[in-house]
Amino acid sequence: MNILLTGGAGYIGSHTIIELYKAGHSVVVVDNLSNSSAVSLKRVAEIIGVDGIPFYKVDVLDREALNKVFDENRFDAVIHFAGLKAVGESVAKPLEYYHNNMTGTFVLLDVMRKHGCKNIIFSSSATVYGDPAVIPITEECPKGHCTNPYGQTKSMLEEVLMDVQKADNEWNVVLLRYFNPIGAHPCGRIGENPNGIPNNLMPYITQTAVGKRQELGVFGNDYDTPDGTGVRDYIHVCDLASGHVAALQAIAKKCGVAVYNLGTGNGSSVLEVVNAFMKVNGVKVPYSIKPRRPGDIATCYCNPAKAEKELGWKAKYNLEDMCRDSWNWQSQNPNGYEE
Ligand code: NAD
Ligand code: UD1
Repeated sequence: MNILLTGGAGYIGSHTIIELYKAGHSVVVVDNLSNSSAVSLKRVAEIIGVDGIPFYKVDVLDREALNKVFDENRFDAVIHFAGLKAVGESVAKPLEYYHNNMTGTFVLLDVMRKHGCKNIIFSSSATVYGDPAVIPITEECPKGHCTNPYGQTKSMLEEVLMDVQKADNEWNVVLLRYFNPIGAHPCGRIGENPNGIPNNLMPYITQTAVGKRQELGVFGNDYDTPDGTGVRDYIHVCDLASGHVAALQAIAKKCGVAVYNLGTGNGSSVLEVVNAFMKVNGVKVPYSIKPRRPGDIATCYCNPAKAEKELGWKAKYNLEDMCRDSWNWQSQNPNGYEE
């Protein structure tokens, strides 16, 4: 298939290009580079062994430019990664987040429809479950209350996409609910490149290990979990990437709407992650216990059985692999893609 990746220069998108190529698909990337660098695409091309990745520096809000991309290419499906994703920033800048994520998707869907491309895979998040009603979380678990505008955009866009499919059954919509992606391609050339102070656990750990941060704050040790710290379902970004290739099967089978959790099904606590990281890499990560972070929940991990049964997809990497590959990337690229 020929696949358009919006936001394809970003963390998950860049890893997904590699898995798509490996499976014999071709790609075109659209990205406004608001949270990424074109260097990632250069490195992806090196990893794959091609001259370059077809790329348009285009904002999905720019209808005219997006139309031109669709005029110049024929796409079998779109994987829609483009979006702003920083939870704290979304609380401070709700309008910017709603505009970019919601309106950007509306423009994309309209342009897709005009060009007769009605297959989309959407980057959703475990955040749509709110404080989950059941653990492990299956796709049948009711959606919950999202505590921030970022999460709201994911939850609302799921509804929008389902309404679009309901109105016109030529559409195929796959909603992929990611759990916590960490790690990097094992070669260490591409990885997560957060702007400023990281919000998420793994980039904070790697930046502490590399000496850019003094110590990690562990947000709360009084949760109702085995060691009191928050439990999450960390998934290697390469596994997550191959989940998108698997999801193309749902499109090929004309799924209508299909929802999949992409996680490993294993919950790891903050302290388990920190200890695994120090052990695997032989580096120190100083940390201290801090108050809980507002909006955090105690435990979140999935039951990934549906994706395995229907798509034959299952995560292969374990926590040690994720810690090793995160460090491999960070230690070789202490400043990310900035040369
Ligand atoms: P990322 O920021 O690395 O990638 C997103 C890309 O989209 C960036 O390259 C950015 O420049 C681009 N972009 C943003 N707005 C755009 C616009 N208007 N037009 C064109 N390009 C635009 O983030 P990521 O971690 O790779 O996440 C990819 C998707 O997965 C996002 O939608 C994110 O919300 C979702 N997601 C991520 C996580 C996670 O933990 N990383 C978890 C759940 C869901
Ligand atoms: C967060 C977002 C979620 C988003 C996801 C991926 C919140 C409330 N949720 O999920 O919407 O989809 O990122 O971008 O922000 N932790 C520390 N110290 C740190 C950082 C994190 O102890 O410096 C802990 C957290 O309390 C949590 C765990 O590590 O228990 C994972 O945190 P994080 O990586 O931010 O992911 P989530 O909170 O699961």
